[in-house]
Amino acid sequence: MFNINYDIMRKYNLAFVLSVFVLGQLFAQATEIPQIGSEAPSFTAMSTNGEVNFPSDYGKSWKILFSHPKDFTPVCSSEILELAYAQQSFKELGAQLLVLSTDILEQHNSWKASLEQLHYKGREPVKIEFPLISDNDLVVSKKYGMIHNSESTKKNIRGVYIIDPHNEIRAIYFYPNEVGRNVDEVKRTLLALQTTYANNSVVTPANWQQGDDVIVPVLSQSEKNSIGLPDSDLYKLTWYMVFKKDD
Ligand code: BEZ
Repeated sequence: MFNINYDIMRKYNLAFVLSVFVLGQLFAQATEIPQIGSEAPSFTAMSTNGEVNFPSDYGKSWKILFSHPKDFTPVCSSEILELAYAQQSFKELGAQLLVLSTDILEQHNSWKASLEQLHYKGREPVKIEFPLISDNDLVVSKKYGMIHNSESTKKNIRGVYIIDPHNEIRAIYFYPNEVGRNVDEVKRTLLALQTTYANNSVVTPANWQQGDDVIVPVLSQSEKNSIGLPDSDLYKLTWYMVFKKDD
């Protein structure tokens, strides 16, 4: 009759449990969303502008990486067109745009060619200067936590990652498939980050726009003493809200 070897069974069971655990850990890491303040994950991928080596190709500029679910879809098309109409103003702010989806490069190329023919909202057709990156094997999407399984296991969520000149991630947003992003808000966030990057003792209040006063959250004794003096640029709303006038 059968002679059951319980020792071997135990060893196989243990090996099975361990491999499930290790695979689970690997999968969890692979889909983790990077943190604000962490280094932007690097990658090499093909795009409509050729090979992209990120972030090394972009030197000390600010980098804005967008992910989108699918080429030839209406909301994504509207977003790419609005980005293209704004691309010169991002360039003037020292920021470079990159767009990524899991579609293949040939599809990116034909979508780009088609978008460049359109008179979107009555405007003249626009050339898309930034790269549309193909991430068909999902490598970059997983590094950046762009795949949210509740929406799709193969397509990206609408993500925005603003990355500073030292390649630190400074802002992340995610929008669902059904809501197109606001390019003006991306620019406003970039301007706010650049303001606080240039002077790290200030922060920007809600609805801040370029030219508005900023907040000084922590004051030195001499700053406290200067509040309200005729030549001071600081003024107090209450003891926990001190503003600095825009220069
Ligand atoms: C769109 O961009 O229109 C879209 C993309 C994915 C799902 C639904 C809409």
